[in-house]
Amino acid sequence: MDPVTRMKHEVAKAAASRVQSGMVVGLGSGSTAALMIQYLGDRVRSGELTNIQAVPTSFQSSVLANEYGIPLTTLNEVDRIDIAIDGADEVDPQRNLIKGGGACHTREKLVDARAEQFIVVVDSSKLVEALGTTFLLPVEVLPEAYIQVGKALEKLGGQPTLRMAVKKAGPVVTDQGNLVLDVKFDRIDNPAELEKAINNIPGVLENGLFVGLTDLVLVGEVDGDRVSVREF
Ligand code: 5RP
Repeated sequence: MDPVTRMKHEVAKAAASRVQSGMVVGLGSGSTAALMIQYLGDRVRSGELTNIQAVPTSFQSSVLANEYGIPLTTLNEVDRIDIAIDGADEVDPQRNLIKGGGACHTREKLVDARAEQFIVVVDSSKLVEALGTTFLLPVEVLPEAYIQVGKALEKLGGQPTLRMAVKKAGPVVTDQGNLVLDVKFDRIDNPAELEKAINNIPGVLENGLFVGLTDLVLVGEVDGDRVSVREF
């Protein structure tokens, strides 16, 4: 197994072990969250974890939850989410995030923001000094508004590109039937301000800046043959 995959496994396992019986759990999306769902499913199947309910953040996470025997519910049916566990594309020193590498950030933000405890699981390559320095900022937009929104994003100093699909002609279409603009900002010095400014553009559903939501980051680290998990 390559070092990045080993780090992902360790943080996924560590996060899944924090879930307790009776909890309502937000299930993140992406490759690290997928491993976490697998480890959570192992605990459910073994009988160690009982009476949990999970709120998925994407089609991907609901399919995985079904596959691993984790009971699903919806945001509208629960009165609380005890814990949400999700991956990230960038994490800054204040634990603000860029998410949306899997185009799931709209539902991820709904679930992660509502959780009593939001745990982020990443390998050490995701830690950055400032957001926007290694990853483009995803913005989900209504299809009929993508040109108009793109122009508004340029006025905010960004360079938007429509995210194109792989193994399908045309653009990526989100679980909600919308499009994604990936926006280059050289460096995002005030993520709280930019998050609000982008969400104020008509036609924008949600952007991938997650500001002030994170309670704990579990970071996978590799030192030679040894893989460890650091809390941050
Ligand atoms: C999906 C996300 C993912 O959590 C993020 O892209 C990280 O994914 P991975 O764990 O595969 O690196 O935000 O929209």
